[in-house]
Amino acid sequence: MSLLIKNGEIVTADSRYVADIWCEGEQITRIDQNITAPAGAEVIDAKGKYVFPGFIDPHVHIYLPFMGTFSKDTYETGSKAALVGGTTTLIEMCCPARADDALKSFELWMSQAVGKSACDFTFHMGVTKFDGGTEVQLREIVKRGIASFKIFLAYKGAFGVDDTELYRTLKLAKELGVIVTAHCENETLVAERCKELLAAGKTDPGQHHESRPPAVEAEGVHHLMTFAELTGAATYIVHLSCKEALDQAIAARQRGVRVGVETLIQYLTLDKTYAEKPDFEGAKYVMSPPLRDARNQSVLWNGLRDGLIQTVATDHAPFDFEKQKPMGKADFTKIPNGIPSLEERINLLYTYGVRTGKIDLHTFVNVASTQVAKLFDLFPRKGCIQPGADADLVVFDPDYRGIISAKTQSMNVDYSAFEGWKLEGRASVVTVRGQVAAREGKFTGTLGRGRFLQRKPSHF
Ligand code: URP
Ligand code: ZN
Ligand code: ZN
Repeated sequence: MSLLIKNGEIVTADSRYVADIWCEGEQITRIDQNITAPAGAEVIDAKGKYVFPGFIDPHVHIYLPFMGTFSKDTYETGSKAALVGGTTTLIEMCCPARADDALKSFELWMSQAVGKSACDFTFHMGVTKFDGGTEVQLREIVKRGIASFKIFLAYKGAFGVDDTELYRTLKLAKELGVIVTAHCENETLVAERCKELLAAGKTDPGQHHESRPPAVEAEGVHHLMTFAELTGAATYIVHLSCKEALDQAIAARQRGVRVGVETLIQYLTLDKTYAEKPDFEGAKYVMSPPLRDARNQSVLWNGLRDGLIQTVATDHAPFDFEKQKPMGKADFTKIPNGIPSLEERINLLYTYGVRTGKIDLHTFVNVASTQVAKLFDLFPRKGCIQPGADADLVVFDPDYRGIISAKTQSMNVDYSAFEGWKLEGRASVVTVRGQVAAREGKFTGTLGRGRFLQRKPSHF
């Protein structure tokens, strides 16, 4: 298998130049001017296009038993959607229920992906309880190639851990060099506020954000930061949505706490008025933390631009509007949480971030690929364009113009939160380890070819 990408403008986190990229087998082997393809090689003309390193989504849910139902995608549908949208590596949250065994859960999540995924993948290992048995199993899971944990300070009674468990998880992570990713919301405040709202007869989707205002998330971040400071563990706040929470992370960073911050394409582009839409339409936009007041968007864009926020993810968690979201028709606390967006992250980030001048091309690559690879021990195999790296490449057409619609999407869900939105640019050709896996919005790859990415912890 050999592939030549000719005349593209290569853009990485820190460089930009026109050159040809020669890939042999699964890797990039040469970058130069005027490379001639030998007979039999596949040649892609990228003149007038950008060539980016394959994008990595650091926070997705593909297999997710949650709130009494299951998220809709499988690795067959999810990896296709990812590739069509320019994402070549997925980091999924492995989320055991509290009653479940960590190791068995890890094996279950692996079995959903191995032999099915068309793109490469790895997992953040969810720690939803911490006891002696769990600790032994977590050590084994790290030996099997997992270099990050996930904890929830939210979802009381489901995934949420208590403070003793949080402290012990962080101590173990520090010892093993594992980074701990965390959903930061004060679960007690959420539970109490939900009860109050329901008792007052406030049951519609627009109440969701009232149940978990910015202070709830800021307290969650502050809480995690205190524990991180005392244990010395490396941490990463997932789906940060608002200024109040970012302020807490920055303050902690300034006093030496090791913390990375992720925001989501949804928080950068949507706001809480979407969740207030009438006739239950708002349920399409219910996720946690909730969509915020629009004034937070400039804070998040500027945070990306200034390096205060490291990554942009999707927290892809697709639940159908017709059959699943109505579980919460009479009670917003029962609406399955999540806004699907795996397929559109890159095209939206480019259209509404780069094209509008909010972030430059290097920041775009950095937050959607390079920083993710660096934080999660995938670099320089992923996240860059250089000889020796996996030939995961995105030839991106800045002249493409199109409209997002659920009718044409590959994600296995019955709506798009971005229905009718304009796109100005899209992933045109996408390769995974040297094989073309998507072309002009159509999947052309191989299901089952995606590989589990073994990682070694580095956050000692
Ligand atoms: O609303 C969300 N975020 N759904 C997925 C589960 C989680 O908290 O990441
Ligand atoms: Zn979460
Ligand atoms: Zn999530």
